[in-house]
Amino acid sequence: MAFAKISQVAHYVPTQVVTNDDLAKIMDTSDEWISSRTGIRERHISVHENTSDLAVQVARQLLDKAKLSSEELDFILVATMSPDSTMPSTAAKVQGAIGAKKAFAFDLTAACSGFVFALATAEKFIRSGTCQRGLVIGAEVLSKQLDWSDRSTAVLFGDGAGGVLLEKADAQYFLAESLNTDGSKGGLVSGQTVLQSPFSEHQEPLNPYIQMDGRAIFDFTIRTVSKSIVAIMEEAGEPDYLLLHQANERILDKMAQKIGVDRDKFLANMQRYGNTSAASIPILLSENVANGTLKLDGSQKILLSGFGGGLTWGNLIVKI
Ligand code: ACO
Repeated sequence: MAFAKISQVAHYVPTQVVTNDDLAKIMDTSDEWISSRTGIRERHISVHENTSDLAVQVARQLLDKAKLSSEELDFILVATMSPDSTMPSTAAKVQGAIGAKKAFAFDLTAACSGFVFALATAEKFIRSGTCQRGLVIGAEVLSKQLDWSDRSTAVLFGDGAGGVLLEKADAQYFLAESLNTDGSKGGLVSGQTVLQSPFSEHQEPLNPYIQMDGRAIFDFTIRTVSKSIVAIMEEAGEPDYLLLHQANERILDKMAQKIGVDRDKFLANMQRYGNTSAASIPILLSENVANGTLKLDGSQKILLSGFGGGLTWGNLIVKI
């Protein structure tokens, strides 16, 4: 049987930093409100780059770190809810830009769970023996989907990309997995609606922006996602570190209490990036490898947990 392992990590964010004070100049908000409710202090906002541009930067870094040619890749998966276009996919643009001639490429949309869902999918391509290696990238330019006059959402999100090189391994690194969806609650957080058929009798108003019932999502996370984390820890043991989707620092505080795990084990960086949806977990992973907290030498066990639109939520416990 084949196994998969994360062998490299990388991230890239646009250079433009927008602080809470900057936002307070253009909408009725304050650094005090944003940081006390969410922990977020600033975020990176893309001015000239689209989602595929961020993802290409990550892909190039991953290849450089691994000293690989792009032609050695078998697949490229990009998790995003803010693609450049519905067609071609962001992943296809990355594949073309880096010249990964042998790789198949596609986007996967599971909102803020996207990276976990994509990594779980990619692992199966390697475990089945059909692929040797590929890239899994979470990339978002959410700023283009925000209503900048809606303070309840505009202050929460940021742009960025992160990803991993996944390769065939001799031992088991992916220890446990749980992926979940509850489409009946999809209305709690929604994004852009795509165009409707002009022949439809029922024309719903088109929504160009991200809208969220923040309190309901907060409760869902604490009630439902916490149970799924407890269940996966029963299966694969308590991890050394927990890398949850970076939506709100208070979620990490409450989650630590609810599941009975030391708060210090929860890594966090939403202070500097805001909520970057599918990119938040790989950016956090990459930063913590760069700062030495995570080693990539097979000695640590981590939990990756994404949750959000769909509703979707997914957990992986992996050795890195
Ligand atoms: N500045 C100042 N005041 C604000 C702002 C703002 N930016 N935004 C809202 N307010 C006001 C509201 O108008 C409201 O005022 P009112 O009481 O006079 O009506 C008050 O602040 C409280 O608003 P709430 O929405 O109830 O604030 P809450 O404490 O719930 O915090 C937040 C909102 C931060 C969104 C929180 O609910 C949250 O983080 N939820 C979870 C979001 C999440 O996990 N998302 C991840 C998954 S989905 C995804 O990522 C796409």
